[in-house]
Amino acid sequence: MRVVRTNAGTGNGGQQMPAHVIVGTQWGDEGKGKATDLLADDVQYVVRYQGGNNAGHTIVVGEQVLKLHLVPSGVLYPHVTPVIADGVVLDPGVLLEELDTLVGQGIDVSKLRISGNAHLIMPYHLELDRVTERWLGRQRLGTTKRGIGPTYADKAARVGLRVQDLYDMKIFRQKLDAVLREKNAILTRVYNRLPLKAADIETEYAVYAERLRPYIADTGSLLHEALERDETVLLEGAQGTLLDLDHGTYPFVTSSNPVAGGALTGTGLGPRHIDRVIGITKAYVTRVGSGPFPTELDDDTGERMVQVGGEFGTTTGRRRRVGWFDAVLARYAARVNGLTEHFLTKLDVLSAFPTLRVCHAYRLHDEEYEHFPPHQSIFHRARPVYTELDGWGEDIGDVRDFAALPKAAQAYVDAIEELSGVPIRYVSVGPGREQTLGRG
Ligand code: IMP
Repeated sequence: MRVVRTNAGTGNGGQQMPAHVIVGTQWGDEGKGKATDLLADDVQYVVRYQGGNNAGHTIVVGEQVLKLHLVPSGVLYPHVTPVIADGVVLDPGVLLEELDTLVGQGIDVSKLRISGNAHLIMPYHLELDRVTERWLGRQRLGTTKRGIGPTYADKAARVGLRVQDLYDMKIFRQKLDAVLREKNAILTRVYNRLPLKAADIETEYAVYAERLRPYIADTGSLLHEALERDETVLLEGAQGTLLDLDHGTYPFVTSSNPVAGGALTGTGLGPRHIDRVIGITKAYVTRVGSGPFPTELDDDTGERMVQVGGEFGTTTGRRRRVGWFDAVLARYAARVNGLTEHFLTKLDVLSAFPTLRVCHAYRLHDEEYEHFPPHQSIFHRARPVYTELDGWGEDIGDVRDFAALPKAAQAYVDAIEELSGVPIRYVSVGPGREQTLGRG
């Protein structure tokens, strides 16, 4: 028997194989796209490990504004291989449209690689996402209606169709017929909708299969081999820590695991590969969709934050809810993800406010909570306890050095670093690549 030696499990102390994880520390929309795009300079692979086209990244390169939903941000770099890994749910029609748009903008997408294990978003998932939200009425989650929850539900129920099924149409049809019997019964009898036809879906997906064929790969092996060659892999989370199915504000969450642990299950890499976990943290907090939000501002200050920050969703165009920075959540995110550092975004937006507030604890009745409360009811009813800080009241978009920031802006960054307990290594003062200040 021939034994093939690899570094896997040899216990070499984890000196090589650098993989970095980028994770949102709030409810998504922290500016991960910009951070990934910047860090991609020094990496060979950028990998999406969970979620689907519920995500939206806006990237500004010079005059060009790119909106990405499913394709990893690293696609903009010729030296980067973008990867859609096992843990992602993929709507093939949407992906192909996104690829066509990128090609139309002069971007080469030929290096993209897609895992055959990724689950397919099917037409009945979209339909079910829409009708269940309507059915829930006031209890609705405010999903992006992209079929994400129903697709992950089928994955867990083991009736999902995967990308690899596209390449054996006989199996694809068998699985589709079996699952569609149940879905059509639900759609017609529970929700009073029209049934879907398997033959129509098969025809549509067979076309996608051919167009996607050049991109399909064994991405687990691809990434592992890259790490063995000492190449660097950036694992890019979508959404954020508090939208995590297990660790977020359930049930007002997405159906996947954006946290750093999800990067492992979503790619098939082991924990030993990870050397940095970079938390992308907005200088204030936003949330789209329903659910508790202790520091939420629904007054004029909030409205100003929405307008100055351009807080409207990339994917759905919805107005985001906004609020002051919440250090309790930042500490929780540091713990859940094992953060090694923060990348602080949108500090420039706070230039618009004469005084700033940072929540350092919650209060409910006579009790003060410095850490994320152990029961949802406490979190729902908690009131923020604020520290007030001076604003700086001047534009900082042209500053290129942390030490050149107004003293009050430096003090704000220092305060949230101290309160969250994790070093802030980068501070972003605008959407452009050049508007990023290194810090220590
Ligand atoms: P779903 O992921 O479409 O099922 O939506 C579940 C919840 O996650 C809703 O509150 C959405 O608004 C939120 N959500 C999903 N994707 C994103 C994102 O990329 N940014 C912010 N919120 C998101």
